[in-house]
Amino acid sequence: MIRLAAGPEALSQTAAELIASRARETVARRGRFSVALAGGSTPRGTYERLARSPLRDQVPWERVHVFWGDERCVSPDDPRSNQRMARRALLDHIPLPSTRIHPIPCEDEPAAAARRYEKELHGFFAPGPPVFDLVLLGLGGDGHTASLFPGDPALRERDRWVAAVRKPGEDFARLTLTLPLLNRAAQILFLVSGGGKAAILAKVLEGPPGRLPAQLVAAGAAEVCWLVDRAAAGKVSGVSLQAEDEGR
Ligand code: 6PG
Repeated sequence: MIRLAAGPEALSQTAAELIASRARETVARRGRFSVALAGGSTPRGTYERLARSPLRDQVPWERVHVFWGDERCVSPDDPRSNQRMARRALLDHIPLPSTRIHPIPCEDEPAAAARRYEKELHGFFAPGPPVFDLVLLGLGGDGHTASLFPGDPALRERDRWVAAVRKPGEDFARLTLTLPLLNRAAQILFLVSGGGKAAILAKVLEGPPGRLPAQLVAAGAAEVCWLVDRAAAGKVSGVSLQAEDEGR
């Protein structure tokens, strides 16, 4: 499904509302809500809105478990850290016990860190299947999502849930959830904002399928929602865009 927001603020507001309502519904139904957060810059506005009333007071935080879809293997205080962004925008402002926040420490030995995180995920989901209630994802200009980059061997991973990867040109490693885990999510919410993403979004949604990481993630999951703003959707044609409340 594609949902259209007027601009970045409307996108953040809509995303925050979707997450809050999903959390409430899931906790009411199953007693807990597991979410894998996206990194990068797009989700920041969404996290900030979740950290403020009224939405902050509408989420049963005591039943929420927070993971990450990927992390850069840098210090948690490093401005490039996805954990740091989420803590400053959201986690430091809500009543969520640290025992329910599952960061991906990986500054040393990324491969061993991947195994550790995978063990933590196994422990969390056992004895049931590893199904996140919600996975938030962004879209990179090359079609990557989480830290699954085009051509990376991690895209061919069929058993492991976490992989250590390197983005070409970066001097630090990354850890990323892999397709076997991402594609089992109950719901995936992509957040895509800005004219800079128009070309790649059109390619992902209307180009040949099965080539770009974001396509591979979307193809497998139970329920995928693309929440995009008008600028990002600028080159998407022939797709029924469900317009959001334009007034936001
Ligand atoms: C990361 C993210 C990555 C991000 C996209 C979009 O750690 O970099 O997981 O997949 O979501 O690159 O990034 P922006 O939101 O900054 O455009």
